[in-house]
Amino acid sequence: MGTHEKSSIAVTDRQRWDQRYRDGIYAARLWPSAYLKQLHDDGLIQPRGRALDVACGRGRNSLYLSAKGYAVDAVDVSATAIAYAANAATAQHARVNWQCRDVLAARDPVPQNSYALIIMFRFVAPGLVPSLLHGLTPGGILIVEEHLQWAGPEQISGPSNQRFRVTADELSMQLKAVGVAFDVLDEFAGLIAEPADDGGQGKAAVSRMCIRRGST
Ligand SMILES: C[S@@+](CC[C@H](N)C(=O)[O-])C[C@H]1O[C@@H](n2cnc3c(N)ncnc32)[C@H](O)[C@@H]1O
Repeated sequence: MGTHEKSSIAVTDRQRWDQRYRDGIYAARLWPSAYLKQLHDDGLIQPRGRALDVACGRGRNSLYLSAKGYAVDAVDVSATAIAYAANAATAQHARVNWQCRDVLAARDPVPQNSYALIIMFRFVAPGLVPSLLHGLTPGGILIVEEHLQWAGPEQISGPSNQRFRVTADELSMQLKAVGVAFDVLDEFAGLIAEPADDGGQGKAAVSRMCIRRGST
């Protein structure tokens, strides 16, 4: 992070993420998001141009997009996560532009009209959605997946604190008055099956959207 940049999160939050990564969080989760892979396999995202991975963590999705042909910028507040991600990229002979910075601190977290694809997976910052849409080039795709607040009896992965989960309509609320044309290509809020970190089958409650910015 540049010295000119002020941090909007407490130093302890940044340190908390660094410590979680040092303790091995997500170390076993090497596979890309199933949703991202599905959208790619369905031809909804075309691997051309620049992509941005917001809150990339250990870079599982950044590395996947790089392998598919995107020129990837990947941002995370945790220097430890970025270091792990950069090591993984070196091992895979992948090129990703890793950036350690706080996306909530910048007034313009994303340069406008810059990316063919922007993804934000499981970083609960729905308020960023309008900026991310503006960061797309015309016709570009935004994919967001957040943990969803869930009251059912199922055992689900992810944060136990509801503060780190969105309500079912929270993403779509962000789309009101964004000031650019867009189409929602896919939208879902509910339970999904996904591999647990121990390799078994688990469940997650998610809210997700795939949005295409208008072509003008
Ligand atoms: C649940 S992890 C998700 C990581 C990755 N997107 C994935 O799906 O594997 C949330 C990530 O958000 C990052 N993060 C938290 N606050 C941030 C901020 N203000 N700016 C950038 N990244 C942040 C954390 O360091 C962590 O890597």
